[in-house]
Amino acid sequence: MENKLFQQQVAIVSGAGKGIGYAIARQLAFQGASVVINDIDSDLAITASDKIKEEGGICEAFGGDISEIENIEGIVAFAVEKFGKLDILLANAGITTYGDFLEYQPASMQRLLQINLFGTFFLTQAATRQMVKQGHGGSILITSSVTGHAAHPFLAAYGMTKAGLDQLVKNLVIDLGPHKININTMVPGATLTERTLIEDPDYLEIWSRITPSGRPSTTDDIVNAALFLVSPASRQIMGQNLVIDGGWTSVGVPPY
Ligand SMILES: NC(=O)c1ccc[n+]([C@@H]2O[C@H](COP(=O)([O-])OP(=O)(O)OC[C@H]3O[C@@H](n4cnc5c(N)ncnc54)[C@H](O)[C@@H]3O)[C@@H](O)[C@H]2O)c1
Repeated sequence: MENKLFQQQVAIVSGAGKGIGYAIARQLAFQGASVVINDIDSDLAITASDKIKEEGGICEAFGGDISEIENIEGIVAFAVEKFGKLDILLANAGITTYGDFLEYQPASMQRLLQINLFGTFFLTQAATRQMVKQGHGGSILITSSVTGHAAHPFLAAYGMTKAGLDQLVKNLVIDLGPHKININTMVPGATLTERTLIEDPDYLEIWSRITPSGRPSTTDDIVNAALFLVSPASRQIMGQNLVIDGGWTSVGVPPY
């Protein structure tokens, strides 16, 4: 029998009905993991899960807003009920709200904080509690963004939440390390997804021009980094923020 990297592993991927989360969930399943796909859009979660199953993967859908405590506790219980345990969490669900700083509204901030920070924090807590109870370690990866590392127009609030996640994983090495759970963020730069192409039809052209590697990332670029960071090969990597951006954050403004 073919020996797959994530055979016998159980993974939750939040915000995985499409985009980066879906690409990661699909590849984890191809590599042998049993995967729970979450999305706030329940139909999308089911469609995504069905597609993975049709391709031979083991997958179940859990629809619901993953920033609500009952869904956070529910998804961990669901994974354990369906697959018996939890080994990997990809806390990927996040929203991007653009806005001029001087006009930015409290309601936008509340939703942003609820999903990107509150939701991610408590999903990480719920997954950790389960892994600690099981007693055989695990792996947690949170999706951050380069806008938490470098200034970007209209993304002050969003960038602030992602910088918070980068610091969260550093803090949590103290709590998770003794339980053999490693935790990191992956930090995508501009990445081609259905969403980014809809938000900006010139996305490919603009990011190809300003990215040192000559192109924005694809979801495959992000998947490769993500699978490494939740694999046995990265167990000693903890509290790190791995940037995947074709070099964009390394370039300063030219002095002319
Ligand atoms: N695409 C990029 O260029 C880029 C760059 C840096 C970081 N990121 C981050 O990557 C992650 C995924 O981004 P994407 O581009 O794939 O986005 P996307 O919008 O294509 O997909 C995100 C999915 O998450 C779901 N979702 C949103 N809020 C949710 C909630 N509260 N509960 C459950 N599901 C929810 C959406 O319905 C959607 O299907 C996000 O955290 C985002 O901030 C993306």
